[in-house]
Amino acid sequence: MFEQVLAEVEEQCRAERVPMLGPDKAKLLASCVENAKPTLIVECGTAIGYSGLWILRVLKNLGTGRLITVEIEAANAERARANFERAGVADLVDSRIGDAAEVLKTIQEPVDFLFLDNNKDGYYPCFRAIESRLTSPATIVADNVGRADQMADYLEHVRTNYDSETHWFESRRRPGNRRQPGNQRRPGRRDGMEVSIYRR
Ligand SMILES: C[S@@+](CC[C@H](N)C(=O)[O-])C[C@H]1O[C@@H](n2cnc3c(N)ncnc32)[C@H](O)[C@@H]1O
Repeated sequence: MFEQVLAEVEEQCRAERVPMLGPDKAKLLASCVENAKPTLIVECGTAIGYSGLWILRVLKNLGTGRLITVEIEAANAERARANFERAGVADLVDSRIGDAAEVLKTIQEPVDFLFLDNNKDGYYPCFRAIESRLTSPATIVADNVGRADQMADYLEHVRTNYDSETHWFESRRRPGNRRQPGNQRRPGRRDGMEVSIYRR
């Protein structure tokens, strides 16, 4: 059932143009979770739960770890909750609604994995909001770092202070944006994920 739900959620995201990580980036995220074996992951930007399902599959296989995921749009969060339920992983996830930078201030437990995929200018405020609860080390993964101008404060901070590596991906064309016969293929846009190891 889990695999069927994941495939359905991916299809819904494509059909409805709900932003999602996509399988290539999700594989990198899953491998980071596998390596870190975290106790508590915090995700900013749930959407309808696609990346959350990738995280939760790893946690389920590891037999340890929980996810707190935060989404500002209540309708998205409700769909994500229903998807986690149908996939049989709802017991591993706490889905919260609100502005991530505010919700993160209310988390009291140690956090050893942070995934940033919310509003891009919110990355640094989210990092600051949770920093005092980050373990040392902690893994931080940030999506869409190809849009560096929108998160310059965040990138400058992690690249200056921690081990930080950018992983680049070619963006896929969206369905419905098909090349017409005779038209030139538009050059692919690159986007990246920044993987940083936070240490005090
Ligand atoms: C790129 S999508 C997340 C995709 C999701 N991580 C996935 O791969 O399935 C960004 C999400 O962040 C949410 N968002 C935007 N601003 C936010 C904020 N301030 N706090 C929490 N979520 C926010 C949007 O509503 C949207 O659902």
